[in-house]
Amino acid sequence: MTKEYNISVIPGDGTGPEVVAEGIKVLETVACKCDFSLNFNNYHLGGEHFKATGEILPDNLLETLAKSDAIYLGAIGHPDVKPGILEKGILLKLRFYFDQYINLRPVKLYEGVETPLKGKGPDDIDFTVVRENTEGLYAGAGGCLKRGTLDEVAIQESINTRKGVERCIRYAFEYCRKRNKRKKLPFCGKTNVLTFAFDLWERTFNEVVEEYPDIETDYAHVDAICMWMVKNPEWFDVIVTDNMFGDIITDLAAMIQGGMGIAAGANINPEGVSMFEPIGGSAPKYTGKNIINPIAAISAAQIMLEIIGEPKAASWIEEGVIKVLRDDLKDVAAGKMGYSTQEVGDLVAEYITKG
Ligand code: IPM
Ligand code: MN
Repeated sequence: MTKEYNISVIPGDGTGPEVVAEGIKVLETVACKCDFSLNFNNYHLGGEHFKATGEILPDNLLETLAKSDAIYLGAIGHPDVKPGILEKGILLKLRFYFDQYINLRPVKLYEGVETPLKGKGPDDIDFTVVRENTEGLYAGAGGCLKRGTLDEVAIQESINTRKGVERCIRYAFEYCRKRNKRKKLPFCGKTNVLTFAFDLWERTFNEVVEEYPDIETDYAHVDAICMWMVKNPEWFDVIVTDNMFGDIITDLAAMIQGGMGIAAGANINPEGVSMFEPIGGSAPKYTGKNIINPIAAISAAQIMLEIIGEPKAASWIEEGVIKVLRDDLKDVAAGKMGYSTQEVGDLVAEYITKG
């Protein structure tokens, strides 16, 4: 019997629907080739839906999504909606509700893609950031007093639980071992200033290390990581860090791999429902123009197949992406691909069909 997977799709805002359509095109092609089937269910959430109905993400929809094998998301964020409403109400709510405690962000410079780093190439830029995805400053702890007055107080606290930190660190070690490349895992924090949170991280890291003698470990402050990522990206294999730092360093990392059009991510609950997305935003400026690069969304689809258990199909997608970036697309980093969004999807799909 052919395997069947139910994929919930949230195209979302801005260019989200355009790039997700190309991801689905590629997924359908590879499913056909590898003999499994994918049922896509679309859910129209995001800025337009909110403006029209006042609804952000209803609880009964969460129950529906819980029945799927994976969630495939385009982008969340709308220029007419106050920042925070949709991001917290949809994206973070999904990450938290499904306890997707890992945000996995591979950073790989593919051949044919230009990096702004002088003298660096594909051999130098190939690492993965394991970002904690449910705690830290994102947990929403804090509040304000006397808002808008001269006596105003605003507090935003970073929540770090032993359980949350440990499962993230453990995942990073396992991932590093499985990846089997440089077998190096630095933990990125700020132990010289944030002495409560990163003390917990450091002690936990040092305990878990004991179970992984095959992995070389290290520590780097987050500011230093930013410096080294630019100066010596070849030092990195896997990096583990908290939610906020992971957010920041992966935008920097996205730039050195050729930009937001390339960078994909996965919000993973290894025991539950995971969600896959291009890490860039909704890019309102480019919406509807058929010019945005869908490779990030296509690579997110690739990670989805790896995680749901179709590694062969996933590697077809990666091969297609590699070929198209190397042989077809032009100035990707500068946003001038020489092809439309749909044509890029067609090129990847065509490679898979013919290959
Ligand atoms: C990301 C995004 C989100 C984050 C925003 C949109 C809430 O920047 O996925 O990196 O900060 O996690
Ligand atoms: Mn971000």
